[in-house]
Amino acid sequence: MNKLLENELCVVTGAANGIGRAIAERFLREGADLIVADYDVETAKKVYEGNSHVLDILQVDATKMEDLEKIAESVKKTGREVKAVLPIVGNGPQNPILEITPEEFNLTMNLNVFSAFFTVQKLIPFMSNKSAIVLISSIAGFQGGKNAIVYNAAKAAVRSMARSFTGELAEKGIRANAISPGPTETRGFTEFVKGDDEVRNGLIAQLPIGHIGQPSEIAAVALFLASDESSYVTGAEIITDGGFTNR
Ligand SMILES: NC(=O)c1ccc[n+]([C@@H]2O[C@H](COP(=O)([O-])OP(=O)(O)OC[C@H]3O[C@@H](n4cnc5c(N)ncnc54)[C@H](O)[C@@H]3O)[C@@H](O)[C@H]2O)c1
Repeated sequence: MNKLLENELCVVTGAANGIGRAIAERFLREGADLIVADYDVETAKKVYEGNSHVLDILQVDATKMEDLEKIAESVKKTGREVKAVLPIVGNGPQNPILEITPEEFNLTMNLNVFSAFFTVQKLIPFMSNKSAIVLISSIAGFQGGKNAIVYNAAKAAVRSMARSFTGELAEKGIRANAISPGPTETRGFTEFVKGDDEVRNGLIAQLPIGHIGQPSEIAAVALFLASDESSYVTGAEIITDGGFTNR
C-alpha cells in the first residue's frame, strides 16, 4: 500500500511527548520528512536523533515569536515546501475563576492560541496548493467545565481559527482543520486527573467507546487531515472523543 506522506515535509510542534509525538511517529511510518520542535529538546533528541527523515530537532518555546521564527528558518534551509503544519503545543493551569491571575490567563492563551496562530503564520510562505494545517483544539472548546475557563476559551479560539484559516487561505489552496480530542492518555492527561484512579475510572465509565483515547488514535485522524485522503475536507473539526460529548 502507498504511504500517505511519502517524501512530504511536515512540521510538528510539541513532538517530544504525548499526542505530538504519536503524530510525528505515525507520519514517519507514512514516509514523511519531519522538522520537530519542542521545549523539551532532551526528550525530543532521545526520540528522533539518528532518524534520517527527521531533518531538524529544534528547541522552541512556542509562546515566543523568535523561537517560532527558528522553525521557519529551518524550513527555509531545506528549500522545500511544507505539506502539513501541526502546532500541537497546548495546555493550561487548572484553577477556579476567582483564583486565575493575569499571568496564568496570558500563559494559557499563549500556549494554546498564540503558539498555534504564529506557528502557522510563520510557515504559510512555505505552503502551497495541497498543503494542510491541522490544529489541536479539544472538546473543552465547546463545553463548559470546572476550573478550566481560560483553557476552554483558548481551545474555542483554536477551533475558530481553523475555520478562519480556511477562508483566508483558500486562494492558496491550503486546507485547515481542527481535531478536538476528548480524554487522551498522555502526561498532560495524567496531570489533569492528578494520578487519581477514581477520577480516571469515572471517566472511562462515561466513555461510550469504553477506553481512554490513545495518542495513536488522535494521530490517525491527524494523518487523514494532513494527507490528500482529506482533499475535500477543510474548515472542519473532527471530534475524537470516544463518544464522550454524546454520552
Ligand atoms: N491529553 C488530552 O486529554 C488532550 C485532550 C484534548 C486536547 N489536548 C491537546 O493536545 C495537545 C497535546 O497535549 P498532550 O496531552 O499530548 O500534552 P503533553 O504534555 O503530553 O505533551 C505536550 C508537549 O508539548 C511540549 N510543550 C509544552 N509547552 C511548550 C512550549 N511552550 N513550547 C514548546 N513545547 C512545549 C511539552 O514539552 C510536550 O512535549 C495540547 O494542545 C492539548 O491541549 C489534549
